[in-house]
Amino acid sequence: MQQPKTIYLKDYRPSPFTIDTIDLTVDIHADHSMVTSVMRIEKHKDSVGQKLNLELNGEGMELVGLKFNGEVLPNDRFQVSSDKLVILNVTHDEFTLEIQNKINPAENKALEGFYQSCPQLCTQCEPEGFRRITYFIDRPDVMAKYTTKMIADKKQYPSLLSNGNRIGSGDLPGGRHWAQWQDPFRKPSYLFAMVAGEFDVARDTFTTMKGRKIDLEIYVDKGNLGKTPHAMNSLKQSMKWDEETFGLEYDLDIYMIVAVDSFNMGAMENKGLNIFNSTYTLADEKSATDHDFQGVQGVIGHEYFHNWTGNRVTCRDWFQLTLKEGLTVFRDQEFSSDMLSRAVKRLEDVRLLKDSQFAEDAGPLSHPIRPSSYIEINNFYTRTVYEKGAEVIRMIHTLIGKEKFRKGMDKYFELFDGQAVTTEDFVHAMEVASGKDLSQFRNWYSRPGTPTLKVTSRKEGNEFVLDIEQKYPLPTVKVEDNNVLLMPFKIGLLDKTTKKEEEHLLELKNLKETFRFKVNGDVTPSLNLGFSAPVIVEYPYEVADLIELMSFNKDPYCRYEATQKIYDHVFKAEFYYFKANGKLNPDLTSEFKSAFQNLLKDESIDLSFKSYLLDLPTENGLSQEMIQPDFDAIHTVHGHLRKKLGLEFQDWFLKEHERLSKVSKFELTPKAFGERALKNQCLTYLVASETKAGMEALDKHYGNATNMTEEIHALQLYIASGVELEHDSIQKFYQKWKHDSLVMLKWFSSLAAYSPKKFALERIEKLEKNVLFQKQVPNYLRSLYLQFAKNNLHAFHDDNGAAYRFVAQRICHIDGFNPQVASRAAGAFSLINKLDSKRQTEMKAALKTIMDNKPSRDTFEVVSKYLA
Ligand code: PHE
Ligand code: ZN
Repeated sequence: MQQPKTIYLKDYRPSPFTIDTIDLTVDIHADHSMVTSVMRIEKHKDSVGQKLNLELNGEGMELVGLKFNGEVLPNDRFQVSSDKLVILNVTHDEFTLEIQNKINPAENKALEGFYQSCPQLCTQCEPEGFRRITYFIDRPDVMAKYTTKMIADKKQYPSLLSNGNRIGSGDLPGGRHWAQWQDPFRKPSYLFAMVAGEFDVARDTFTTMKGRKIDLEIYVDKGNLGKTPHAMNSLKQSMKWDEETFGLEYDLDIYMIVAVDSFNMGAMENKGLNIFNSTYTLADEKSATDHDFQGVQGVIGHEYFHNWTGNRVTCRDWFQLTLKEGLTVFRDQEFSSDMLSRAVKRLEDVRLLKDSQFAEDAGPLSHPIRPSSYIEINNFYTRTVYEKGAEVIRMIHTLIGKEKFRKGMDKYFELFDGQAVTTEDFVHAMEVASGKDLSQFRNWYSRPGTPTLKVTSRKEGNEFVLDIEQKYPLPTVKVEDNNVLLMPFKIGLLDKTTKKEEEHLLELKNLKETFRFKVNGDVTPSLNLGFSAPVIVEYPYEVADLIELMSFNKDPYCRYEATQKIYDHVFKAEFYYFKANGKLNPDLTSEFKSAFQNLLKDESIDLSFKSYLLDLPTENGLSQEMIQPDFDAIHTVHGHLRKKLGLEFQDWFLKEHERLSKVSKFELTPKAFGERALKNQCLTYLVASETKAGMEALDKHYGNATNMTEEIHALQLYIASGVELEHDSIQKFYQKWKHDSLVMLKWFSSLAAYSPKKFALERIEKLEKNVLFQKQVPNYLRSLYLQFAKNNLHAFHDDNGAAYRFVAQRICHIDGFNPQVASRAAGAFSLINKLDSKRQTEMKAALKTIMDNKPSRDTFEVVSKYLA
């Protein structure tokens, strides 16, 4: 097989040509669309006067016509291939190019470019989809002004949308009509969008801080208007928040969001015309969980915030992706913190980072937040670029403080508005505004892997001394020898007698450092307060220290962290007991029992937060920490520990569950989120107890559920308890929700993630054949295969290798029509290097079948790294 080409950051050169304006006409027909593009092109100032070839990207299209300065271009003046159109020997410094080409959205199953998401038509151009619409210099540093005219059947496609403002529309003979849009802002091609279809539209307005009235429109499938109020409200909250927090006002007169069912990712920030996966738009009490509601709010915010961080200031090249994504994730995290509970949001963000990003960074796909090479850029929309990228921005925020960070943002827009820039430019703006030298801090952009801080402490007279050593994993890419990270490390010293805590912000800049603090008595150190740096901290805590921190620490994140460490401790002891004795440990230590009891009793804790504090570490997290994890034993011991706690504290769980069942009004407030979360958590422990009372609580919970948060949680507990597919609980849900495809996604994914090993695989093979399983829709593919592989660990990692072979086979199939989804599904195999030799051999064999199947560039890049 021919090795796909690797692209390097060091090879970046500005484009020799720039495109000033592009005037598009898209004539939509049942079996094809005809695209006419008229571009005004200029040579880059450094190329003026030279004779050069103009290379345009273009894939999956048919060239129909080509004119240069209004004249048909003779055949010997250009070359077309499967991915390029080259205009030979261009001597003009300025000229127009008119291209006509044909595309077929109905047959586009990769969902890049112009495609059909039944029954509507929409586009996805980031990162390189525009080249599937027409020939273009498809790179983000070529920024043009767009005018777009769409022509289509009026009945089938009453709405014709594109970026900017509508400047004209009208009827045509034969039942057709047209609309023309103009975007006054220059933009890279990846922000282009176009939608044609029939929708219901939710409308509202927002008045900006300068008094401009903006039309807000949310386009959804017919019948779904009732599920739009939360999205609309979230949009208005986002607009207001960005004005108040960063002084950023929306810049067009209209903001549109279109929800579609077939989408490879979560959502897309196209200028003035966002396109969203419907899972991040539609939500109502009956069909959406609290997690979904928060997801909608966060993603609406995220895409809206991109209008400044991404669109007004964009990326020079795709290596700079974290410039817009890390920064925008940071902004959406802050937004959600301000709208909901800051403590809970931080804990959730850190959980996600540790569960997914740390794992990615410890595996074969580890890369710096600014990668230095790639084969397929679609593979780099990762937890690292997004979530670790956001942590890097957060560290700058911590190092220079809120006010200077705000000044830095102002400076960033002052210097770079309307330009395509680099992460270096962002850091520079922060430096200029804050006066702080961030040279060493820049190392975060090029070093992959999660650093570990080895911390030890000692008492010297009345000084408490901390020795801190930075350790890095062996980098997967070349890193300069002198790359030592600078990071803010917030610590607290908790006085054991007075329970007072003193906070310090340390700046680590050397591999080994010692810090001294004057103290009065004995202290317990609380490390990495608020998770100030995205690192693993190793400190030899005694359980007693952790209990102290769990009970008295001021920092909510560190409290959570302390409880997790205690569980971890207890879990490991149980695990090794089980391995050594071949049976489960029947006891709980009194120390642990009383710590757990204290948590239950503590009424000062916010309920969402409490439900997190009661959450045992996930099987996922636990297996990450082990070398050659024994997935079956982890599953068994994990269940057993929960059972013991459920039995021991059954009375409390029953009472609390009952108390929370009396809350009747459905609200979307942090308080109400907390009540439902804790009620669900109580139920988890009750069911784990395997008692009659537990099962009764489950039946009651399920039978009385009036919202999806409680309904789906109960369903998952039934599934995990091992009921048959034919069981009432599973069938009732199916019958009730079969008309709602978003809810059916939950049904499929719950079965994939929670079905016990003994029938999981067989069940999935059955579910794939269900009439409601939409075989080409990414959400559905993820709901079965990725949920199974990532969340049903003991079933997926069955050491007979059957599940590996099954998932590999499905990946090959998906790769045939949607490489992006296939390559992401290949993430199922990310644990390869941690497995025991039997599982590893099975997994390798499964991965080889993918390699033998002529994989796409996307899947090749991922699988070859797993096999390396
Ligand atoms: N830019 C989108 C976001 O982060 C993500 C995305 C990437 C969507 C590529 C589609 C394709 O908001
Ligand atoms: Zn984004």
